[in-house]
Amino acid sequence: MERTTVVGSCRHHFWYFIFTIFVLWFLYLNYLFYSSAITGKNHEASGLLAGNDTAFGDDNQELLSDSIHLEENSNEDGNNSENVDDDSEDGFNPIDSFLKLGNWVQIADEILASEKKPERQHNINRARKHPGTRHEEKPDSRRSRYSVRNRDKSGRSFPVSTRQTRKPVIERKPVIGKKPVEVVKPDPVNCKGKYIYVYRLPMRYNDDLIRHCRNLSEWTNMCKFTSNMGLGPILENNDNVYLNTSWFATNQFLLEVIFHNRMKQYKCLTTNSSLASAIFVPFYPGLDLNRYLWSRSTMKLKDYDTFDLVKWLKKRPEWKKMSGRDHFMVAGRISWDFRRDSNNDFDWGNKLLLLPETNNMTVLVIESSPWHTNDFAIPYPTYFHPSTDEEVFEWQSRMRNQKRPFLFSFVGAGRPNLPDSIRTELMDQCRSSKKCRLMECVKGFNNCYRPEYVMRLFQNSVFCLQPAGDSFTRRSTFDSILAGCIPVFFNPGSAYVQYIWHLPKNYSNYSVFIPDTDVKDKISIEKTLEMITKEQVEAMREEVIKLMPKVIYADPNGRLETLEDAFDITVEGVLERIDKIRQEMNEGRKHLSTDLAGEDAWKYNLFGTIDEHEWDHFFARPRIY
Ligand SMILES: *[C@@H]1O[C@H](CO)[C@@H](O)[C@H](O)[C@H]1NC(C)=O
Ligand SMILES: *[C@@H]1O[C@H](CO)[C@@H](O)[C@H](O)[C@H]1NC(C)=O
Ligand SMILES: *[C@@H]1O[C@H](CO)[C@@H](O)[C@H](O)[C@H]1NC(C)=O
Ligand SMILES: *[C@@H]1O[C@H](CO)[C@@H](O)[C@H](O)[C@H]1NC(C)=O
Ligand SMILES: *[C@@H]1O[C@H](CO)[C@@H](O)[C@H](O)[C@H]1NC(C)=O
Ligand SMILES: *[C@@H]1O[C@H](CO)[C@@H](O)[C@H](O)[C@H]1NC(C)=O
Ligand SMILES: *[C@@H]1O[C@H](CO)[C@@H](O)[C@H](O)[C@H]1NC(C)=O
Ligand SMILES: *[C@@H]1O[C@H](CO)[C@@H](O)[C@H](O)[C@H]1NC(C)=O
Repeated sequence: MERTTVVGSCRHHFWYFIFTIFVLWFLYLNYLFYSSAITGKNHEASGLLAGNDTAFGDDNQELLSDSIHLEENSNEDGNNSENVDDDSEDGFNPIDSFLKLGNWVQIADEILASEKKPERQHNINRARKHPGTRHEEKPDSRRSRYSVRNRDKSGRSFPVSTRQTRKPVIERKPVIGKKPVEVVKPDPVNCKGKYIYVYRLPMRYNDDLIRHCRNLSEWTNMCKFTSNMGLGPILENNDNVYLNTSWFATNQFLLEVIFHNRMKQYKCLTTNSSLASAIFVPFYPGLDLNRYLWSRSTMKLKDYDTFDLVKWLKKRPEWKKMSGRDHFMVAGRISWDFRRDSNNDFDWGNKLLLLPETNNMTVLVIESSPWHTNDFAIPYPTYFHPSTDEEVFEWQSRMRNQKRPFLFSFVGAGRPNLPDSIRTELMDQCRSSKKCRLMECVKGFNNCYRPEYVMRLFQNSVFCLQPAGDSFTRRSTFDSILAGCIPVFFNPGSAYVQYIWHLPKNYSNYSVFIPDTDVKDKISIEKTLEMITKEQVEAMREEVIKLMPKVIYADPNGRLETLEDAFDITVEGVLERIDKIRQEMNEGRKHLSTDLAGEDAWKYNLFGTIDEHEWDHFFARPRIY
């Protein structure tokens, strides 16, 4: 009986002591954890985690990016981006008020009421350096998805990192003796047919979003990621996992900013739109949407800027020339985030890609819809942004000579809620294989969110498994290519029908394809990969290494001389597509071939035909979008 109380008898004094020590230790750990996890208005954040959406890791792409909490600098010595505000003097701007004030519902009403007001034109503020990168941000402890659909592919979320790394954000220091890249004067011979005109949009569509970077996300301070022209904070190379220069903690959703900054140094820019072969719209729809994506009752806010922008576009003489068919823009999220086909406040995303105007444009996203013709996938941004050819060559040769002790590896989390997901099977196989290394992204302490751990694992692996997650694609694919690790795909939607401009047509040259149906039939991944001969592996790796420059975005502050990066290849693809459209329009064709494919867009874009194909079943499942 006396054993039922711990403090009951002298005999237990020793155990009582041990118990007390244990409790104190536990409280101390708790304190360490929460003291770093709690800040300001994110207090309630950890509470939300207890909700329905605790299944952590629906974040296939985000894993490696969003959760880099590099800085925990508690000095408020930096400039506060909210204080940088120079357009308060002239008149009412609902968006600005929205950003400054906290009352979303009231301001939303104002916005909707003012919809009829004429657009206030801002001066384009060139080369504005926003200083808001010094803000400290505690880890995201909140994630939620609001969608009526269970199988919400677009359940973007910001993963929770409980791990603190106390490094300040490093802004690029001006390199002494290295001048910033000058805009070159277009060479009329080389630029024939390649001129691009960039709209000067009202600032609220781009620069204002960066200026108010604190408000881009409810719980992540995006300011660190918008620093360095969208490349993010410099990654310190303490463990020699990267090169000493040109590696950044890049957030995958900053493609709009990176692309825009690359565009500013494009070699064939023109200020005369009538000379242009294509017209670039430097809107940041992903950043715009990110502000409201997780909020309820904000359907109108999610659509507000987008609707307004297309209205603005349609009034331009440039639009009228080809009904916008020569316009293109970047929407740096997956296609599904821009295809909300309902008018339900609770539903995910906005309608950007469903509008008649954007249907005439070429919209570049990080994952396209296989069933639509207006969006094209271009690579996710990764961590390496070289400013010279030499940096690329150095990295390539380093990855070529890398020792790779693991046959295959996987970084990610299961999808227990998705019945079709093969991730659980893959993870089980990996766990039971001596040749596989698994980095499981579970809630709590793990290394998934630290680029140095993930990149090191990929650098030590011959093959990297890239199964679909909530959506077809993952940023991880590009991280693994960057590490010289041969990607293994299980669905052609994960890469082959996506990055058609950037990846070789013959996918067996650089990747392994194991249909997910085979995995469900319990095919052994280890045996399949072991059957590939050493020579084949080396040839494939060489292809992967050759791919590197094509899938990375060079530093907008530098310039690659002989190599083409993902931006260059994208621009070529866009120009070619618009050329074809222009030709058909000049011929007076009623129905453009680019529109005809419809739901077979994936096939048409890849093979140029919509005949029956062995991959049809991958894209035949019930359409829920
Ligand atoms: C989870 O969702 C269900 C249905 O949407 C709801 O009934 C339940 O209360 C939720 N649970 C929590 C913990 O939020
Ligand atoms: C803050 O901004 C002001 C001008 O806006 C500038 O003079 C000052 O150097 C900045 N301070 C820091 C710490 O960036
Ligand atoms: C914008 O951010 C500031 C600082 O975090 C906050 O005070 C303000 O309420 C935010 N505005 C909105 C609309 O979220
Ligand atoms: C890279 O940086 C590390 C530490 O800062 C230094 O030891 C090393 O020599 C540098 N490597 C090169 C190639 O500069
Ligand atoms: C733009 O180019 C067109 C066609 O070459 C030319 O007629 C026009 O004068 C140019 N406009 C300007 C402002 O240079
Ligand atoms: C889209 O382009 C077609 C011609 O290809 C044109 O008839 C239509 O009006 C355009 N739509 C918009 C919204 O401009
Ligand atoms: C694929 O590789 C083979 C040899 O391995 C080569 O002959 C072929 O041209 C490559 N195909 C492409 C599309 O790169
Ligand atoms: C694709 O590449 C593989 C391996 O390099 C090769 O065996 C195959 O013949 C190629 N297919 C085509 C159509 O070129």
